[in-house]
Amino acid sequence: MFKKSILASVVTAFCLTSGAASAGPEAEVLHWWTSGGEAKSVAVLMEEFAANGGAWTDMPVAGGGGDAAMTALRARVLSGNAPTAVQLKGPAIQEWYEEGVLANINSVGVAQNWDELLPAAIADHMKCEGEYCAAPVNVHRVDWIWANAEVLANAGIEMPTSWAEFNAAAEKLQGMGITPLAHGGQAWQDATVFEAVALGIGGADFFRKAFIDLDEATLTSDTMVAVFDQMRIMRGFVDENFSGRDWNLATAMVINGEAGFQIMGDWAKGEFVAADKVPGKDFLCTSTPGGGFLYNVDSFAMFDVKGDNKVAGQNLLAELIMGQNFQKVFNLNKGSIPARLDVALDEFDYCARQSSYDMDVASGNGSLLPSYAHGMALRGAQAGAITDTVTAHFNSDMSSQDAVAALAKAVANSM
Ligand code: GAL
Repeated sequence: MFKKSILASVVTAFCLTSGAASAGPEAEVLHWWTSGGEAKSVAVLMEEFAANGGAWTDMPVAGGGGDAAMTALRARVLSGNAPTAVQLKGPAIQEWYEEGVLANINSVGVAQNWDELLPAAIADHMKCEGEYCAAPVNVHRVDWIWANAEVLANAGIEMPTSWAEFNAAAEKLQGMGITPLAHGGQAWQDATVFEAVALGIGGADFFRKAFIDLDEATLTSDTMVAVFDQMRIMRGFVDENFSGRDWNLATAMVINGEAGFQIMGDWAKGEFVAADKVPGKDFLCTSTPGGGFLYNVDSFAMFDVKGDNKVAGQNLLAELIMGQNFQKVFNLNKGSIPARLDVALDEFDYCARQSSYDMDVASGNGSLLPSYAHGMALRGAQAGAITDTVTAHFNSDMSSQDAVAALAKAVANSM
């Protein structure tokens, strides 16, 4: 009797576990969201996945901007062992599709009517030959200035509305012994500042010709010389320990008043918020001078993997990512705004509302532009060529004239 019931329960337990394993959605998710604000955000997706019966295997690869994550992805795909879901964005989605390694999630996109819920430009980024192969979580804006409100008030400084004002404010802070610009010397952070300066100084058409069309005359123009001149000035506003610093540690310098400003996408707001700082009171946001809107849409692409559980996991993830509540809660933590057009912004702060408003305006007047620094505008080789030059200039005494010549050459070699 005793023996029998033990056996029976063992058999029952076995059936339950194996039954659950074969029916349950699974996902191994590769992403680079490891800072305080980022980790809080991705946790929202993990929790929703678990609440819907999913088993999540986390594969975080630290490194802002995702360069290290993309290297890890390449290694996994080359060894024939792709993760089920990957944080991937912009033209890199189509590049991987062309390698024949992406899964199709069009059935979820059609069932949930994504074409209606997303702005057309965002939907296009998510499609491979007209069918959904990625799901968007947000719209980050890149061209922002963040500031410590108290530091600015003590210095009698307003948020700058021109680069001349920015330079004057920064010089004032420097005179007071405060680091004007919190910055981390990593190539992608240099590129982030550079593209905001380029949009500000050159305007939307200049940005488009330079970083989308890769037009040689624009890359070597006097305007581009002026952009590098401003980058040289910026170099004078960073502290001497900037090399290699992670972006979130730079944000922490603004949070704790060691620095006045940071030029960074609104994932920086996720850090302020995670540190319980209040927008408008503890910290301030404004778009970088000059106008336009540089967008950076985070998304997940699914890789072609075997197994019903994994495919179920991919579909469940895609469905959850585009869920109305997920898009709200995730973006409240992440600093971005929802990709879905029908999510109310009542609970969002003034930075997010400004982002949404400016995006609308920019989309109407032709100044809504994909961020080159965050992989939305160009393929990897071309974006990398530009960034290499930007960072070489920032970290040396290269003249602006030499920089534009190097830029045009690097771009030509990358084609
Ligand atoms: C961006 C990404 C953001 C944020 C940032 C820093 O490229 O789109 O979500 O994570 O890098 O890691």
